[in-house]
Amino acid sequence: MPQTTQANLIQMLEAAAHDEHAAIIQYLRHAYMMGEGELACEIESIAREEMRHFWILSRWIVRLGGQPPTQRGFTDLSGATGPEWMQRDAAAEERAIAMYEGYLARIADPDLRADIEFILGDERRHHGDFVHFADKAALEMQAEAPAEEAAEAPAMAPVDKDALEWGVNHEYAAILQYLVHSFLTMDKDEEISSQLMMQAINEMQHMGWFGEELVEGGEEMPLTHHPLALPTDPQAMLEADIKLENETAAMYGQFIEKMVDPGAKGVIDDARGQELYHENLFGRLLKRLKPVRSPSEAPTTKVWTVGTLKRKP
Ligand SMILES: [Fe+2]
Ligand SMILES: [Fe+2]
Ligand SMILES: [Fe+2]
Ligand SMILES: [Fe+2]
Repeated sequence: MPQTTQANLIQMLEAAAHDEHAAIIQYLRHAYMMGEGELACEIESIAREEMRHFWILSRWIVRLGGQPPTQRGFTDLSGATGPEWMQRDAAAEERAIAMYEGYLARIADPDLRADIEFILGDERRHHGDFVHFADKAALEMQAEAPAEEAAEAPAMAPVDKDALEWGVNHEYAAILQYLVHSFLTMDKDEEISSQLMMQAINEMQHMGWFGEELVEGGEEMPLTHHPLALPTDPQAMLEADIKLENETAAMYGQFIEKMVDPGAKGVIDDARGQELYHENLFGRLLKRLKPVRSPSEAPTTKVWTVGTLKRKP
């Protein structure tokens, strides 16, 4: 097996994490563009598996001494119909399979190999799924082609479009921020880590609601996100997450007052309710980090930083 230096290994894992990030966004975008239905649900569940891959790879990168990866790799935005999007997704899986097979030829660490093999198994299954979805989408298109052409969606009100786009930008940032915070807190507190992962999935649902509304209104889902807050200690992470939820609930509240379309307004209002829940939940998690101590106990002033997470292999 050829020698792979630690720096090389980090670079390889970063490239893979960037591609997993791209897969999440590409698949979600396609799921929303397919509209409601069985196929959209199945694509969304594949996107969730890509989230898990992103999480696993990111954790390795930080363990090996790298920075949490937040860049997005190549995202294929081409294609105009369901079958074309599914072909693009099958092609993305082919690229991932080739990459991970190449990695296995260069990686010796048995634990990392086991994780890559697990991811590779998923990608092979996803490839088969997308090939099948392309056929299914083609059949669905043939079946519904004549009836659906006539109805053109009326233009979306600018205020609704602004709210939904702002919402997608926020939810995208929240997904990434909570995923990063989740793998950074894993060694410190599993409860906090798994809660952050679950809320990242919940934010993905919000992004789905808004993305579908935009697509139904004849608009595109934005592919950019608001800036991320990535401090290095868990307390600062949770404080940043609480602030984000608080500001977002307030912003959604302002949008709701001006929005016109009941459907669009409804999804923003539903998300607002859940952001308030997130704010409360993160507040409870923050208390876990700051236990109330009796005066007899020696105060611990240990500062927990990202450095302490790095486990040199
Ligand atoms: Fe993946
Ligand atoms: Fe995949
Ligand atoms: Fe959200
Ligand atoms: Fe939230």
